Amino acid sequence: MKKIKLGVIPGDGVGVEIMPYATQVLDVIAQVHGGLKFEHSWYPWSCEYYLEHGEMMPKDGLDQLSQHDAIFLGAVGNPNLVADHTSLWGLLINIRRGFKQTLNIRHAKQLRGITPMVINPNGFDLIVVRENSEGEYSEVGGRIHSGEDEVVVQNAVFTRKATERAMRYAFELAKTRKGHVTSATKSNGIVFSMPFWDEVFDQVGKDYPDVEKRSAHIDALAAFLVSKPSEFDIIVASNLFGDILTDISAAVMGSIGIGPAANLNVDGSYPSMFEPVHGSAPDIVGKGIANPIGQIWTGKMMLDHFGETELATQLLNIVEDVTEAGIKTPDVGGKATTSEVTDEIVSRIKQLT
Ligand code: NAD
Ligand code: IPM
Ligand code: MN
Repeated sequence: MKKIKLGVIPGDGVGVEIMPYATQVLDVIAQVHGGLKFEHSWYPWSCEYYLEHGEMMPKDGLDQLSQHDAIFLGAVGNPNLVADHTSLWGLLINIRRGFKQTLNIRHAKQLRGITPMVINPNGFDLIVVRENSEGEYSEVGGRIHSGEDEVVVQNAVFTRKATERAMRYAFELAKTRKGHVTSATKSNGIVFSMPFWDEVFDQVGKDYPDVEKRSAHIDALAAFLVSKPSEFDIIVASNLFGDILTDISAAVMGSIGIGPAANLNVDGSYPSMFEPVHGSAPDIVGKGIANPIGQIWTGKMMLDHFGETELATQLLNIVEDVTEAGIKTPDVGGKATTSEVTDEIVSRIKQLT
């Protein structure tokens, strides 16, 4: 029996609502497999935990999580209780950095049964490789002056190692797919980091003569992603650009609630973390209508990560069968609840046996 030890962090808001359903889906798919078992340990780390303990996770939280093969996270953030930068840096970003999850891989494609933002006769299927450890998310800077002459400086940090790592991963991925990589730049306006980004893209690209290289400024790229998503295969982007592009790519599929993501520790020194693109969605919390597909598809990416590719493909196929049958939450034009969508997915998985 192959056992996968999962550290489960539902987090806040719809993360808490969706997580029991998503883990149920993983358990059922493991039963169908027959030789696979998920062992989960649940951690209540969240904004409510912060109110009680004064921290988002215990001091030895990373040690506790390191006992697992992977982390399955819902969403973090309840701005009514805790300032976002405190909750996110205290938990999500703390784990990403502590566990060297230097890449964030986010898939987007046209799903059967979900109307995309723009109708594409040939559909679309793209992956954003987001640098996940540095860039614009930096603690370098500060408040220089206060009062009338207040000045705040926020620096961005780009290292050759991390930039190369993201680009190499993108090129390798492109070789297994349609064979082109688009680099998200802004070297027309940002004078240090982005010319460096372009330079590394060119240098690493030389090792991949068969992969087509494209480069687009982030503003135009964001627009093209909406109007012509079928023209992309792999997009490689810095931390902030990748963040923005992947809310867009999820919305282009039909809803922010369906985008999946994998925070990868590429050298295997620590567990990777699987967490959807969306946040805690405070505007719909408590209504039972959160779309579980982002979290379930994220679970599919985790199955791929552990080499269960056949099962992973079957899972996404079933999700699409369910949306095609019209069983969908309101964000993608349906009337079903989180539980109705999941029940249907679960019952179709059981029919696989
Ligand atoms: P959000 O992703 O939570 O919500 C944006 C919009 O998408 C909202 O209208 C919401 O209802 C909708 N949406 C999101 N997930 C959905 C789902 N599963 N089903 C249906 N609709 C869904 O972004 P936000 O409002 O900017 O952020 C809310 C909180 O979440 C903030 O505290 C933010 O910092 C946090 N956040 C956390 C993560 C994370 O933990 N990975 C990611 C993004 C935002
Ligand atoms: C994401 C989120 C986070 C990010 C926030 C909540 C810090 O938007 O995972 O996409 O910007 O990385
Ligand atoms: Mn985001």
